[in-house]
Amino acid sequence: MDSFSSRDFRNALGCFATGITVMTACDADGRMVGITVNSFASVSLDPPLISFCLDRNALSLNSFLNAPHFGVNVLAEDQEALSAAFARSSAADKFIGLRFEVGTTGCPLLPDCLSHLECEREAAHAAGDHLIVIGRVVRLAQRAEGKPLLYFRGRYAKLGEPPV
Ligand SMILES: Cc1cc2nc3c(=O)[nH]c(=O)nc-3n(C[C@H](O)[C@H](O)[C@H](O)COP(=O)(O)O)c2cc1C
Repeated sequence: MDSFSSRDFRNALGCFATGITVMTACDADGRMVGITVNSFASVSLDPPLISFCLDRNALSLNSFLNAPHFGVNVLAEDQEALSAAFARSSAADKFIGLRFEVGTTGCPLLPDCLSHLECEREAAHAAGDHLIVIGRVVRLAQRAEGKPLLYFRGRYAKLGEPPV
């Protein structure tokens, strides 16, 4: 195996453009948590499964692991401030001062997102310094229009042209 630095590894991964989500949950003690995530991926159509990778050092780790459900909030291009707010590691309530709704599964949902997926946690697999969390989608909603917030080479980006 060639040797490479952690910076080189991050830079190479950053060449893969992604959307941005905020994963949210309400744990068994009623504590609401949320983290910015770009490792969201679709996994299976039948059954409907999605995944994301959760840092083992995240302060919200235990909340995500003891909450039976989590919510996926797919951010729109004008929601960079939300991405930044949920990317700040903090044990404090990140929802103070924010508008949100509570989904049918109890997950906090952020308004004006491109889509929401409410998921049952199906599995959490160990993978290095992260966990691969698998969710079974039990409810979804999406906006008919709107462009995504993107992440590319460590920076936020927007779609140049709407998709045809
Ligand atoms: C664009 C972007 C993408 C991120 N993607 C992930 C991710 O996929 N998984 C993850 O665990 N953290 C990811 N993070 C970092 C978390 O959002 C950050 O560590 C968060 O503050 C953890 O919150 P907590 O410690 O309060 O739980 C990302 C951050 C940014 C800015």
